[in-house]
Amino acid sequence: MAFFSLSLLLLLLLAASGAAPAHSFTRSDFPPEFVFGAATSAYQYEGAVAEDGRSPSVWDTFTHAGKIADKSTGDVASDGYHKYKDDVKLMADTNLEAYRFSISWSRLIPNGRGAINPKGLEYYNNLIDELVKHGIQIHVMLYHLDFPQVLDDEYGGWLSPRIVEDFTAFADVCFKEFGDRVSYWTTLDEPNIGPIGSYDSGIFAPGRCSEPFGVTKCTAGNSTVEPYIAAHNMILAHASATRLYREKYQAMQKGVVGINVYSFWTYPLTNSTADLAATKRYQDFMFGWTLEPLVFGDYPQVMKTNVGSRLPSFTESQSEFVKGAIDFIGINHYYSVYVNDRPLKEGIRDYAADMSVYQRGSRTDPETSEVKVSNIVCKRCYWLQLFWTCMMERLGILNQY
Ligand SMILES: *[C@@H]1O[C@H](CO)[C@@H](O)[C@H](O)[C@H]1NC(C)=O
Ligand SMILES: *[C@@H]1O[C@H](CO)[C@@H](O)[C@H](O)[C@H]1NC(C)=O
Repeated sequence: MAFFSLSLLLLLLLAASGAAPAHSFTRSDFPPEFVFGAATSAYQYEGAVAEDGRSPSVWDTFTHAGKIADKSTGDVASDGYHKYKDDVKLMADTNLEAYRFSISWSRLIPNGRGAINPKGLEYYNNLIDELVKHGIQIHVMLYHLDFPQVLDDEYGGWLSPRIVEDFTAFADVCFKEFGDRVSYWTTLDEPNIGPIGSYDSGIFAPGRCSEPFGVTKCTAGNSTVEPYIAAHNMILAHASATRLYREKYQAMQKGVVGINVYSFWTYPLTNSTADLAATKRYQDFMFGWTLEPLVFGDYPQVMKTNVGSRLPSFTESQSEFVKGAIDFIGINHYYSVYVNDRPLKEGIRDYAADMSVYQRGSRTDPETSEVKVSNIVCKRCYWLQLFWTCMMERLGILNQY
């Protein structure tokens, strides 16, 4: 299963929105620098979970505990570990210009830190060489949700600041080994939704949550604070890896390092002051959470106000460290929603409650306060231009590619 890149998604959305029938435009309608590509993530693609020295990630543990509705696992997945050559050929046959894959940390470094697994190294070198051979632009996602189980057992993974050093060392190995052929690096996939799935609702590995917020019954966790702690450590780890690349590799390898965020675009349900503020609040919680620290060195004010002491704060030196630690912003866009105001609830709150909005997929849908992917479909597809205009205005102009 592939996560489409922004570029490919744009094409699909244009087709779906009725702006133009799919067959009426061609490659030449897009500027040459507009790159069409597709992407996969290691756990969803590779399979071969117990082969050639790979150690388990939290997703192996999670799926083997039967946590997926249909009890499926990634044991075989798309069997990419064995079939990558066929897949690269298919990419070339369909004229795909770029491909992004993620690296299974526990395949490359089975103990989480220290020794490199030669077989894991060989697999990624072979895959990269195959892409080079076919002229496909390579984008690497360093980490896509599949945290090494061994480090989760040792210190609770993203919940501990110890992750910063280990993630940076993992990134160092990747830059060093693959950076001669890879120029586009994304550190972390969607640090604005991963922590919610993993530590608030518990629908992602390692499946932590607390009453009454979990989607399933969780035995450990704290939905009110852990997502914020995990995201904070992700921002620090991203910045650390980015700064390492800049200091040690960028002059020679001439690549770029960024991060991507999960994205909906949002429309106010009405033009009331409260709904306009709710829409901005939604964007601050959704994008500002990750991007404002990396641009301005701090979280959005409304998050500090609504989350209070549950939101970690950046020390002055951390703030300087994270500020500017980004060469590009990746957007994984899913759909758009209407947003209206929901008064801030008293009592214990999680991320969705802190955001204090209602959202819906169309004006006539019933409202929901949950950040839910499944029941809202894209009904308005004019998001891309709006997204860039509004976000870039908000953040100031960044280097984009
Ligand atoms: C979660 O953490 C907060 C802040 O430390 C604490 O007040 C609350 O009791 C914790 N909740 C659970 C379920 O452990
Ligand atoms: C809100 O105002 C904008 C700009 O004037 C307008 O385009 C939009 O239709 C209005 N929305 C509603 C729900 O009235």
